[in-house]
Order: sequence, then structure tokens, then C-alpha cells
Amino acid sequence: MTFDRSVKIAPSILSADFANFGAECEAIEAEGADWVHVDVMDGHFVPNITFGPATCAAIRPHIKGVMDVHLMIAPVDPYITAFAEAGADVITAHVEAGPHIHRTLQAIRAAGAKAGVALNPGTPAEAVSGLLDMVDLICVMTVNPGFGGQKFIASQVDKVRTLRSIIGDRPVHIEIDGGVDPKTAPLVARAGADVLVAGSAVFRGGSVSNPAPYGDNIRAIREAASGVWA
Ligand code: DX5
Ligand code: ZN
Repeated sequence: MTFDRSVKIAPSILSADFANFGAECEAIEAEGADWVHVDVMDGHFVPNITFGPATCAAIRPHIKGVMDVHLMIAPVDPYITAFAEAGADVITAHVEAGPHIHRTLQAIRAAGAKAGVALNPGTPAEAVSGLLDMVDLICVMTVNPGFGGQKFIASQVDKVRTLRSIIGDRPVHIEIDGGVDPKTAPLVARAGADVLVAGSAVFRGGSVSNPAPYGDNIRAIREAASGVWA
């Protein structure tokens, strides 16, 4: 994974057909996805359950590019090795998921993955100010985690701007997760985000047997966001 700040679209397979993950991953990549975002939920840290490392390992051969694993689980540490062995390129843990996020991020890098830290909407940017040299990605949640299809929380745009400023020249991605569509993408891209996760706005209207809408949706988000990065 080489670092750059161009806009990357990361469809979330939370909005895919759960009986067809392999084909869905192939379809979104063929239609222009840059990364594949994989939402792991435990029914404890968030009020929803998705899947775990075995599913990540099963879909890995169907993804050519970056597998971006977003862990909405607590505790995190006992499962890091399993997700790294499943082939995650990026493993993101929530700062709210436990008392020792610093240790968690060390463990993610030690397992050979890029380390991401996610912030819930109620958590300020300053929560990661002591972690900037040990992360590869900061994920700003623009919805409360747990479900796709929620409304973008506009108050988070200021947080993105603050993070972009404190990151400085460090090679750290800013990822936006929740409610990203062609209307909201320019707001966060202009504030400094480069990885845009989108679930419902990518998968709507398409299917593995009719994947062209995925491409239209990805292009619409990319075009809306491009040219506004500051
Ligand atoms: C929410 C997940 C998101 C979600 C985004 O907890 O982390 O990745 O799938 O879905 P949309 O784009 O529909 O808001
Ligand atoms: Zn996510």
C-alpha cells in the first residue's frame, strides 16, 4: 500500500448481498472501487452483529486491492492476529472500545497491518492527538456506528478539518464513514478527507447480476469529491 492523498472510494459490504460477498467484492472493484471496507460488528460495542475473521479470510481472495477492516468490537486485542491472518491490509479499532488504544495500535502494526483509529461522533479530534505517529488512518464516523443508511452528521466536518491540521505532513489517511453520498462527499473532501466509505450510496440500484449502477454510484461520489481537496 503506497500512501497518497487522492480521493479513494471504499464501498462498505455492509450494504452488499450477504449471501454473495465474493461476487460483490469482485463487482465493486470491477466498477471502480479503490478499497473494500469491511464492517465487523459484535452486538456489544455496537447494537448489531455482522461477521468475523473467518468471513474476512473467505472474501480476501476476491479482493485485488486494499481490504479495509473496521472493527466495531470490544475487546479488540484478542482478535487482532486473527484479522491480520485473514488478510486485512488496514485494521481500524475504535478509541472508545477500550482503555488501551495505544497498546491496540501497537499490536495492529506488530501483526503486520496498517493501523487505523476510529472516532465516534461524540469523541473529539483531540482524543487521537497523542497517537498521530502510530496510525496510518483516522476514521471519522459521520454516523453513530452500527447500521448503514443513516443520515450524515454534519457537525463532524469541523472535526475533519481539525484532524487535517494536526496531522500535518504525516502520511495518515482521513477516512469518513457514514452517510457519504454525492451531496456530503464534497464537504468532507474539502475539509481534508481522502478515503470515503459508502455503503448504501454505492450499492443502491445494483446487484451482482446488474453491477453497472455500482459504477455509476462510485463515479458520482468521486466526481462530487474531486477537485475540492485542500
Ligand atoms: C456503520 C458502518 C459504515 C456503514 C456506512 O457503522 O461503519 O461503514 O456501512 O453505510 P452508509 O454509507 O450506508 O452510511
Ligand atoms: Zn465502517
